[in-house]
Amino acid sequence: MSATQPTHPAARYSPASERNKQPIGEALLGLLPPQGIALEIASGSGQHVTHFAALLPGWQWLASDPDASALASIPHWWPQGPAPLQLDVSQNPWPLPASHSQLDAIFCANMLHISGADSARSLLRGAAQHLRAQGQLIVYGPFIVEGLPTAASNLAFDADLRARNPAWGLRHLSDIEAIAAEQGLHLAQRLNMPANNLLLVFQAQHTPGA
Ligand SMILES: C[S@@+](CC[C@H](N)C(=O)[O-])C[C@H]1O[C@@H](n2cnc3c(N)ncnc32)[C@H](O)[C@@H]1O
Repeated sequence: MSATQPTHPAARYSPASERNKQPIGEALLGLLPPQGIALEIASGSGQHVTHFAALLPGWQWLASDPDASALASIPHWWPQGPAPLQLDVSQNPWPLPASHSQLDAIFCANMLHISGADSARSLLRGAAQHLRAQGQLIVYGPFIVEGLPTAASNLAFDADLRARNPAWGLRHLSDIEAIAAEQGLHLAQRLNMPANNLLLVFQAQHTPGA
């Protein structure tokens, strides 16, 4: 199931993606129906989308990232995939092709802590605009959860991020949930993942009786 590491110099390699793609993929198998249309936000190297496309053959994935080096890397990992989309979540509207304007799933890993604080609002706004009624926004990464101790490794990571860029840093889950509610989304599931990461599943709020 693992893609062979491409040798082209434009192909980036993330050891963390290589480690976590398996547990995330297993979680996606449990969360997603057999088929659908999915967008990956902040695809980075492309290792995740390559793994998920192979694991979930009924799904039509589209990779995206704002960064030119990511866009150059992704096709080397996933040569059979569609050309990745240059997409920054702050764009409004997202420049989605017609094939991916209505989505069953949006997946985003490890972006919210390494982009401006506004990126959570942008991600949730875009998700609310493009997810179908039963669609899922699935967000992976480290978060601070009120009432639970934050792992020492995550505290150190947070301090390191903030030293590199004051706008970066681990986000509080309660803040993300509040922003989601503004967009008509709610946290439907929260899964604990290896290395003190979480997998968050947001879905549209259902009005009772609607
Ligand atoms: C740490 S990497 C994560 C890559 C990949 N998702 C993973 O987990 O290995 C963060 C990625 O977020 C992307 N990113 C940063 N700001 C963004 C934004 N405003 N909109 C979309 N992607 C963004 C970066 O270009 C980069 O590829």
